[in-house]
Order: sequence, then C-alpha cells, then structure tokens
Amino acid sequence: MSHERDGRRFLLSGNWKMHHDHIEALHMVRDLGLRMKPDDVADVDVSVHPPFTDIRTVQSLVEGEGIPVVLGAQHCSDQDRGPFTGEVSPQMLARLAVRYVLVGHSERRQLFGMTDATVASTIKAVLRHGMTPICCVGESADERVAGRTEARLRDQLLGAIEGLEPEQVGGMVLAYEPLWAIGSGTPATPVDAADACAYLRGLVASEVGPEPARAIRVQYGGSVTADNAAEMASEPDVDGLLVGGASLDAASFLDILRAVAGC
Ligand code: 13P
Repeated sequence: MSHERDGRRFLLSGNWKMHHDHIEALHMVRDLGLRMKPDDVADVDVSVHPPFTDIRTVQSLVEGEGIPVVLGAQHCSDQDRGPFTGEVSPQMLARLAVRYVLVGHSERRQLFGMTDATVASTIKAVLRHGMTPICCVGESADERVAGRTEARLRDQLLGAIEGLEPEQVGGMVLAYEPLWAIGSGTPATPVDAADACAYLRGLVASEVGPEPARAIRVQYGGSVTADNAAEMASEPDVDGLLVGGASLDAASFLDILRAVAGC
C-alpha cells in the first residue's frame, strides 16, 4: 500500500479512552500479541493508547514479549513538571517509551476545555520530549450542515501548528475525527473522509510547504470497524485509522489490522 502514499507508512491506532484497568490491559495486549503475525505489521504501524494507569504494565509486556505495537497516550500536560494536580507530564510518558500522544481529541476539547492554544502548547511539549503528536481535528454536525467543515478544520490545524518548524509539522500525525462520527455507529463515507484528509494535506502544502505535506500522516477516526476499515484504507489520502470502541477487543482490533494490511 505504501507506493500509493509517497512512502508514508499506514498508522493504525487504538484509543481505549477510559476503558480497561491495568489487569484488563494486560490480558488484551497479551491476547493481541498471541494473535499477531509478523506479516500483519509488514506495512502498518500499530499503536495502542491505554489509560495512564496501564502504561507501565503495557510497556513491560510489549518489551518483554516483543509484541510489535508501540505505546501511545491519550493526552498530556503542556508543562514538564510543577504544581499541576492531576496532570501527567510528557517527560514522564517519554520515560515509559510512549511514542505517540493524542493531542486535542474532541473529548478533551469539549469536556475538559482544551483550546486551539492549549493544543498548540501541548504539541510543542510532546515534540520537546521526542514523541509524535497525533493532533485531532474535526467538525461538529452543525458545522457540517452549515458548510463550515473546511473553515473549522483550517482554524484547528493552523492553530495547532503555529510556531512549528516545517520538519516538525512533517513528522506529526493528524487525525480527522468528525464529532458526529465518534461513537455514533455512523462513520464518514470513505470519500468524505478522504476529502477531509486531502484538504488537511493541501493546507499543510500551502501554509507550510510541499515536503511536510508529503510526509505528514493523516488518519481518519469515527466509528471505524473491520467492516469499513478496508474501504477507508483504500483511499490514498487516508494514511491511518484512529479507532475507539473497536480497538478494545484484541480480535476486533486485529480484524481491522488485517483488513487494512490487505489493501
Ligand atoms: P469510535 O471508534 O468509538 O467511534 O471512537 C473514535 C475516536 O474517538 C477515536 O479517537
């Protein structure tokens, strides 16, 4: 599949949200490791994003048993240390071999007050510690109906990458997650998903440059399952999938991996 994507490797990510304690995480990832075959990851990078309390457990398991998934987190502070009760520092995540951090997931924006400015400072914090931000953007149902999808994506993307070097932008991941598709059972059509991903890449090209636009990976997320994953992954502008509910179970996550690996 990589020849269609200018060498960008497909990235399949499982966002567990607030599901699975560390014992359940152990069982899930062990099950995944037992089922995975080397061929499954020949053309695809796979990340899992458990809750913070699971990360050390999953790290030990993945490293100890050589399971070919990389660790991700769902959020972090934009500060390295200090009096920020309840926050988790990006430095602490980097020490646990976390490679990808979701930044600005719509649930963080809607429920926990993240703004384009805190998304931007968090992306910088993630980069400062050598990790890769997965910056989430997406329009609401009302914005889509009002024809404001592109304007919303533009505001979110340009706000997020403000002040970054072109190489930093090229090394990032974007996740297009329309709010109405998250957890609704109604995914975007593959064409709509691809159009939004292409629009985001085009913005990177015009605002940052052709090289970062060629390099940056753009995922789609929102009600992805094994039934729709292959169709999404067949779109050359969709470089990955960010999966919520269907990533919680090893068998269903692996079905998605096999569906996209076969594209
Ligand atoms: P669902 O796959 O459950 O719709 O969640 C999508 C999501 O928010 C992933 O970050």
